[in-house]
Amino acid sequence: MKGVILAGGLATRLRPLTLVTNKHLLPIYNKPMIYYPLEAMVKAGIKEVLVTSSPDHAGHFANLLGSGEDFGLKLYYAVQENPKGGISDAIILADEFAKDEKILVLLGDNIFGFDLRESVEMFEKREKGAMTFGIEMPTESKQYGVIEKDLDDNVISIEEKPENPKSNIAQTGIYMYDNRVFSFIKDLSPSQRGELEVTDLNNFYVKEGTMKCEMIDWWIDAGTSFDELLRANKMVAEKVKSGELQ
Ligand code: G1P
Repeated sequence: MKGVILAGGLATRLRPLTLVTNKHLLPIYNKPMIYYPLEAMVKAGIKEVLVTSSPDHAGHFANLLGSGEDFGLKLYYAVQENPKGGISDAIILADEFAKDEKILVLLGDNIFGFDLRESVEMFEKREKGAMTFGIEMPTESKQYGVIEKDLDDNVISIEEKPENPKSNIAQTGIYMYDNRVFSFIKDLSPSQRGELEVTDLNNFYVKEGTMKCEMIDWWIDAGTSFDELLRANKMVAEKVKSGELQ
């Protein structure tokens, strides 16, 4: 299974911090943000990772991360020409890189401690389908994708930023797909905000009955606002000091 980390976008919500710097290079306590998804890939046992970014910033990631050797990974880089293309528009850049393998996709601004290794191993054995990871979020779930699932973790529906959420489970930025993902993306149309949405992609699998959801314990989308960025910094600082994170 191959890894894909998405580090593109304009990050307008974090301006002026992101006027000349890519959001995923901003600090989270003692490391650049992108280190967290990279380390999650390493923990998960993934050996080859593609980092996608915008034309202005792709070189910065190569400067920072190089070949990936220091992380114990082999890194590849891809440029997303349209920074407003959306998550699915970035995932499709991994088509050739993935060859015939399944992929683990992580949004580059997602900070979490969950160890994905077992989920990766189980997913590798599955014949087909996809996997999304959810988190209980009683109050703020309206700003995320919202997942409705049954007791066996089969996903019944995913709605993007719904007015009336059907559950308190927010969709994180952690996804696993079989190799059909690239042909599904080719059938997507841009949403109202002009993006190829990950939720529309995930719904191909939901309709097919092959989308599963696993719950994780803590997670922060550090790129959504100054407050979430600050919260991620504080939470990581606490976890480093308590020895839970390095
Ligand atoms: C995206 C997804 C959304 C998900 C979120 C997680 O939202 O569309 O379903 O809950 O990432 O970070 P965006 O950050 O593009 O608004």
